Amino acid sequence: MNKNNVYIETYGCQMNFADSELVMGILKNKGFEVTRNIDEANVILLNTCSVRDNAEQKIFHRLDHLKRIKRENPQAVIGILGCMAERLRKRLIEEKKIVDVVVGPDEYRRLPEYIDHAFGGEKGIGVKLSRTETYDDIIPYREDGISAWISVMRGCDKFCTFCVVPFTRGRERSRSLDSIVNEVKSLSERNFKEVTLLGQNVNSYNDNGRDFADLLSACADAAPEMRIRFTTSHPQDLSDKLLYAIAEHDNICNYIHLPVQSGSNRILELMNRTYTIEHYLNLIEKARKIIPGVSFSTDIIAGFPTETEEDHRMTLEVMKEVKYDGAYMFKYSPREGTKAYSMTDDVPEEIKIRRLNEIIDLQQQISYEINQSLIGKEEVVLVEGVSKKSDEFLSGRTDTNKVAVFPKSDDIKVGDYVKIEITRATSATLFGASPVPVEVD
Ligand code: SAH
Ligand code: SF4
Ligand code: F3S
Repeated sequence: MNKNNVYIETYGCQMNFADSELVMGILKNKGFEVTRNIDEANVILLNTCSVRDNAEQKIFHRLDHLKRIKRENPQAVIGILGCMAERLRKRLIEEKKIVDVVVGPDEYRRLPEYIDHAFGGEKGIGVKLSRTETYDDIIPYREDGISAWISVMRGCDKFCTFCVVPFTRGRERSRSLDSIVNEVKSLSERNFKEVTLLGQNVNSYNDNGRDFADLLSACADAAPEMRIRFTTSHPQDLSDKLLYAIAEHDNICNYIHLPVQSGSNRILELMNRTYTIEHYLNLIEKARKIIPGVSFSTDIIAGFPTETEEDHRMTLEVMKEVKYDGAYMFKYSPREGTKAYSMTDDVPEEIKIRRLNEIIDLQQQISYEINQSLIGKEEVVLVEGVSKKSDEFLSGRTDTNKVAVFPKSDDIKVGDYVKIEITRATSATLFGASPVPVEVD
């Protein structure tokens, strides 16, 4: 067995997935090989998430499974990367005997060193956070494909009271605009067709006065045949300039992920979200004027401390008013070290579950209605691959990020843009007919 075969599993947000590609880039530079088969690996890395308790429980279960591998191959090095590394640090090594290295998001350059020491039987922890690290010069390891992501900034300074991210990812810092644009160009040369610019709050991107709107426009101009997406926007600093940048570039997708979290101003204040529902709804209205046809998705938390039925009802009202195309919906999960952790988690579990289910049901109904209204219309889809359910169909996504499925045809291949007519829809999928290739540039 090659001594340096690395297997990595990624949990959590897209930024963690982008980080895993960085980590593989760093390790490949030092002579490691990447494997998709855990049984061939002697370095097993889990890139972890701490955002909610169930995310961490998943990793603990996974570690229990990995005991078997460690038993069969005691030389194997097991490493915890990502947000749990930052949050639990020493505890992971002390309590989970099989863990050899614990390395947080700003110390990945030193990972090869830690792994080498672990081969020599030495356990290691690297969890310092940095004010400057952006991995600007690292070329991530990416397999060929259609879609890629690029982290354009790291960290978060918002300190929403429920959220562990500012503690696990450290202070906000931006990568240089030029290096991002160069990476987009090189993705375009490799025939990638879509790139998602990532950050916990991309609207506060700042490279010596060049803001996120400048960055988006520069990326869109550098690769006119590519779709440019981005996430996440915080409602506090979504600028008019950004909305116009989206409107003025055909290849910047008309889709904004704009987490609202709650529909109640009292709860928003306790969450330290720094906007009111009135501000939020004005923003949606303005965006719809500037970018006709723009669609929105959101994040919602059910059962934040002190949330009443009235607060919950206000969340449902906002959902009905905005009519999100999609939503990520969660039960509040107390995280040690955050401000909300000192508030009493006083909404009983069964009420949290009931409220969450009401939110999920409503969103499903809204998504269904929006998708039904698209029947008979034409949509341009970027072809991503064969449909999961049938070889006879292809699947891709619309500009507004909806999954669309349509019949295969000889003149259409993965990476093409096609126009389809929508004939049927569920809350999650559009079904189309008569695909025709279209030129985009
Ligand atoms: N930076 C992004 C989101 C980061 S985390 C933003 O500001 O919107 C993704 C989502 O997880 C959050 O939007 C929030 O809805 C949810 N989340 C974060 N902490 C949580 C917690 N303690 N309990 C439940 N959901 C949480
Ligand atoms: Fe967490 Fe708020 Fe930062 Fe998003 S903006 S990562 S929710 S602290
Ligand atoms: Fe999870 Fe860390 Fe992302 S906590 S959501 S992996 S920033």
